[in-house]
Amino acid sequence: MQTAHEMFIHELTDMLDAEQNLVEALGKQAEESSRPELQKAFQSHQAQTEKQVERLQECFELLGESPEDAECKGIRGLIAEHDTFVGEEDPAGDLLDIFNTVAAAKVESYEIQAYQSLIRMADLMKHTKVSRLLNQSLKEEQATLKKVEGFSKKLKPENLGMEEEAEDESDSRKAPRGNGSKPRRGRAA
Ligand SMILES: [Fe+2]
Repeated sequence: MQTAHEMFIHELTDMLDAEQNLVEALGKQAEESSRPELQKAFQSHQAQTEKQVERLQECFELLGESPEDAECKGIRGLIAEHDTFVGEEDPAGDLLDIFNTVAAAKVESYEIQAYQSLIRMADLMKHTKVSRLLNQSLKEEQATLKKVEGFSKKLKPENLGMEEEAEDESDSRKAPRGNGSKPRRGRAA
């Protein structure tokens, strides 16, 4: 690869694959949500993501190009993390809500950086209409990130699993905090 144009097409393809995979993942996350407001948020972002897929397809049309045969490993990786967490850990509903909210924030942060980079390239290459389309999606991702961060602040786990530690702390006035908690089950990171 030698030209910015080639790289732009490569990165656009990456984003298209990401958004396409997210449409399905967001549907799953909506179904898993134990809180109606979270479920609604995932559903509305799923509809938004379908639009973002269409915008990317429109970008390819405007450029007279087709998507390459490539995968966005970053977003696919985040989706795989979710599937492993749900499949292997059998998380309580409140914990799954928290996991999904944080996962959404990670996805949005990734997408924001990717769209910003695409927009910079589009502007340099004077692809005005493409840049405008990408900007619409960027604005949506930024608004979604804000919303998701709002949820993150509100959600609290029901069981902190710290009963023993709490007793210890009241016993010995100020017990040092740290890694003295029970060994955790599950895989190491
Ligand atoms: Fe998106």
